[in-house]
Formats: sequence, structure tokens, C-alpha cells
Amino acid sequence: MNKITAAITATGSYVPDFVLSNKVLETLVDTNDEWITSRTGIKERRILKEEGQGTSYLAIQAAKNLIEKANIDPKEIDMVILCTATPDMLVASTGVYVASQIGATNAFAYDLQAACSSFLFGMSTASAYVESGKYKKVLLIGADKMSSIIDYTDRSTCIIFGDGAGAVLFEPNHEGLGLQDEFLRSDGVGREFLKIDAGGSILPSSEETVKNKQHFVHQDGKTVFKYAVSGMADVSEKIMERNNLVKEDINWLVAHQANRRIIDATANRIGLEEDKVLINIEKYGNTTSATLPLLLGDFESKLKKGDNIIFAAFGGGFTWGAIYLKWAYNSNK
Ligand code: UT7
Repeated sequence: MNKITAAITATGSYVPDFVLSNKVLETLVDTNDEWITSRTGIKERRILKEEGQGTSYLAIQAAKNLIEKANIDPKEIDMVILCTATPDMLVASTGVYVASQIGATNAFAYDLQAACSSFLFGMSTASAYVESGKYKKVLLIGADKMSSIIDYTDRSTCIIFGDGAGAVLFEPNHEGLGLQDEFLRSDGVGREFLKIDAGGSILPSSEETVKNKQHFVHQDGKTVFKYAVSGMADVSEKIMERNNLVKEDINWLVAHQANRRIIDATANRIGLEEDKVLINIEKYGNTTSATLPLLLGDFESKLKKGDNIIFAAFGGGFTWGAIYLKWAYNSNK
């Protein structure tokens, strides 16, 4: 086969050691373990506690984990795309710093932001670079230090989010494996329902914005939930239909981990059995750009060469979509 496809050839991941359990959240806000578990599926999340360490720290650890596992020379990496909604700082690109720190000195780098769909959209971007034939090793990282933008007195957000990072390497494939199709969507109607009001160009930081807690994430959970359930299920169904896939053809659903009920609704719509749905939300909560690569990292040993995987995500903006990918290797773990 002559056409170059873009395949994932390695994964890496990292979560900080500190565990924030539902029990501890019960002491911070008016909530309880039973409510959080039944409404979201989350039992605990990881938090990066060390002062002075930002999203780059998480991303660097995940990238180093990949480099070590795959035994590659970082100098061979052509580009680094860092998917994140929580960059280290507003202007200097976090991905550039990460690339330098991991020794990817021949790469160019930048950040990609599409809220919780950042990594999914990044998969499309990374693949396009590889398919173009211009670049051979594209490192795609999803990393978020969500704890830096969460108000731990707001029970509608603090129970959901956690910190983490994951990375994958995209390389050319000549057996037709890797990314097969994508269906990516966005709709500005979502801007009102999940956002950080201040610190951007519309409402720059001021004493007032800090006092009003406008630098934290605010969401209308119910509305986001409604859009997420139909959005993620619709695109997953659509991508299967247009690739003539029936449920028996699908080996795995790798879906954004925002709420267990949203994932279950997607799996139900496409008729997938529970054992084909990768889940780790109970351990990490919603790590925004890191959920998809953290799933690949945790379940890598189950994935087999040729497996058909549906990736799906939904996030702020709104942004959402699905990707159909054929897994390209058997892990030797
Ligand atoms: O990654 C993409 C972006 N985010 C998402 O996809 C998140 C989407 N939204 C959600 O996951 C859910 O909407 C939440 C988990 C945020 C909330 O769950 P819900 O089932 O939509 O709850 P709700 O907001 O409809 O609230 C139901 C009840 C309310 O009480 P009343 O009015 O029925 O008496 C809330 O006040 O639960 C109450 N409640 C809580 N109770 C205990 C809301 N948050 C909590 C809480 N603990 N943390």
C-alpha cells in the first residue's frame, strides 16, 4: 500500500502522586461520596501540589515516559504539539518549553487549545502533518493542571476535575493502520456554559476579577451534560455509519472521561458492550486534554495490532468529535 497513514506507535503518561478523594472533598464542600460516585463515576483525582510546577511539568514527565518506553532519541522528533487548556503562562508557548526540556532540539512546537476536545483535535492535526509526508515523528501531548483554575469551594466543578498528562507518538505507516477517518465539530453556542470569564482580552485581570472569582472555571453542568450526551453519541454513530462499521467491528471506545453517564450514553447509542469501553474516570476524574492518552497508557497492554478504535470527546466552546483509528502495534508490556 503506497498511501501514508499516520499511526500511533508509542504512548506515555504521568499523574501526580497526590490523591484527592471524594472523602476529602466532603470536608471542603457540601457533597458526599455517594452523590459524586453515582452522578459522575469519579472516586478520586490527582493534584499537582508542588509550588512553581505547572502544566509543563506534567507534560514533560509524560513525554519522558514515552521516550523511555519507546527507546527513541528525542532529537529525532520533528514536532511537538501540546494540547492544553491550562498553559504555564498566557503568551510564551508551553509546548516550546516542553520540547526543549525533553531534548527535542530539532523539533518545532506549539500549543493547541480546544478545551476537553484538545487532544482529539490534536490527533487530527498530528496525523495531517504525518500524512503530508513532511514530518516523520510527531509527538502529541495532552496535559492539564486543572487544579490551577478550579475553585475548591464550588461543588459543581471541584468534584470533577483533576491533573494529568499523556503523550503519543504519530509516525507514518504503510500497512494502512492508524487514523482512518475523523468527524470534528464546534459550535460557539457553548461559550456561555463553560468558561473562565477573566484573564483574557475581553476582561483582563484586575483586583475586581480576582475578588469575584472570575479566574476560575464556571460551568452550567446540566446544559453541558445535555449537549455532551447527544454530541458525543451523534458523532460516534456518524463515524461508524460512514465507515460501514457495525458494533461487532469495534474493539474499543476511547471516550473523554468527563462523566461516566456521558460515556455510557455514547456506548449505548453505538451498542457497545461494557467490556469494550475503556474507563479510568474513577481514578483521575476529568483531566481535560489528558483523558484520551491516559486511557491509552493505562490500557496499552490490551490493545492489539489492527484493533478498531473509536475515539470521542466533548468539551467547552463547544467542541466535539470522533476519530476512527486502527491500532498499529502489540505492546510488549
Ligand atoms: O469535559 C466536558 C465538560 N464537562 C462536562 O461534560 C460535565 C457535564 N456535566 C456534568 O457532568 C453534570 O452536570 C455534573 C456532574 C456537573 C452535575 O450533575 P447533574 O446530575 O447534572 O446534577 P445537577 O446539576 O442537575 O444537580 C442535581 C442536584 C441538585 O440538587 P436539587 O436542586 O435537585 O436539590 C444540585 O444542587 O444535585 C445537587 N448537586 C450536588 N449535590 C452533592 C450538584 N452538585 C452536587 C455535589 N454534591 N457536588
